[in-house]
Amino acid sequence: MAYTFSTALAGMTGTATRDIFRLLSRPEIISFAGGLPAGDCLPIAQIREITAEIFADPKEAARVLQYGQTEGYPGLRELLIPLIKEAGIGGLIDNENILILSGGGQGLDLMIKAFVNAGDVVLVENPTFLGFLETLKAYNGVSIGVKADRDGINLEDLEAKIKKYKPKLLYAIPNFSNPTGKTWPAERRKTVAALAAKYNFMVVEDDPYGRLRFSGDAVPSIKSFEKDLNGKDLHGPEEHVVYISSFSKTVSPGLRTGFAVGNAAVIRKLAIGKQGADLHTSNLSQAIIKRYLEKQYFYPNIEKSLPVYRERKTAMIGAIQKYMPGEFVHTNPDGGLFIWGEFSVPVNTVEIFKEAIEQNAAYINGTVFYADDGEGGKAGVLGANTLRLNYSNESPERIEKGVKALGEVFKKHITALGKK
Ligand SMILES: Cc1ncc(COP(=O)(O)O)c(C=O)c1O
Repeated sequence: MAYTFSTALAGMTGTATRDIFRLLSRPEIISFAGGLPAGDCLPIAQIREITAEIFADPKEAARVLQYGQTEGYPGLRELLIPLIKEAGIGGLIDNENILILSGGGQGLDLMIKAFVNAGDVVLVENPTFLGFLETLKAYNGVSIGVKADRDGINLEDLEAKIKKYKPKLLYAIPNFSNPTGKTWPAERRKTVAALAAKYNFMVVEDDPYGRLRFSGDAVPSIKSFEKDLNGKDLHGPEEHVVYISSFSKTVSPGLRTGFAVGNAAVIRKLAIGKQGADLHTSNLSQAIIKRYLEKQYFYPNIEKSLPVYRERKTAMIGAIQKYMPGEFVHTNPDGGLFIWGEFSVPVNTVEIFKEAIEQNAAYINGTVFYADDGEGGKAGVLGANTLRLNYSNESPERIEKGVKALGEVFKKHITALGKK
């Protein structure tokens, strides 16, 4: 039969990333297209040990296998409080300010569900996380892209668009953004927190990558800049920022566990939205994360994985400098998983992708990460000369080989441009 899907999903045929992943199943393909944490850093032995301990304890085993509370597994939120404080977030955080999520991505969905009606505008830094843009579409929200420079969101364009569009939300990835790897300086975060209070919109601060910093100093979260007139952390209905993070990149994405931090009334609303989605995050995943934190595995495992990420990023930057054409301008992040590149000449990364695959190297073309900019720049057309490269899941040797292959493909196209 001809299915009559909802208008929200009718136009969606699967994200570009998913389509590309189908192409990437051949082992000879060197893939810079994904966004997976390094497979060899997953803590398999510790999780095996912890899972055995959980099921060796009859009381805990029964708790894990039973229904649980929407807000979180007993004892887990308390353990998160010190982690949350490390992002500079206030002294008054309590259980009622925290909701355990089935991955940080669920927090994005719940924030949209809680605040966005059909036709409402959400501002995003252009380019931004494709998953957020897709989820917003499913709720018939409208994304408008804000300009960015090398340090992230452009504050003048942001304020102009706040005045013009009166957004419900601003979606921000201030640490090692997906797709760009950019990090916002503290001053911009502080200004964003002030703008949210002045113009009364919510900020979704998405921070899955902040702990994957392998060089430079950590920058306090946007939420940490929410202060009252006496400089004390805001703790009440004046709060405009909801901070969302995840264990996907620091422990395991397969456990699907993240958390949201915000004003208690907002967290309550998100919990109501979560009840309709999955009732609660898997008890087994939460119990594993809880013991993982209790057994002090969290920090040492991150420390162990950072040199791996640093080595792979350094290998990719080296290979880019060696093999990519001089017209390729790129970021050089201090953490996270991604390098973003832009050609200073009209090279079409959408069209060239097929040739790259023929040479056994894959990237993601940048167009998919753009929202309309509200000034005639349409999604799908903006960023035709851009691409995202992921370095976390290939060895330095394969990174060199793959970037060399990409360099040859792009140099050929740029030479052809010169002859036109
Ligand atoms: C910026 C950003 N936010 C959220 C997510 C979702 O992560 P998860 O739901 O696994 O925590 C991702 C995943 O890649 C991401 O890149």
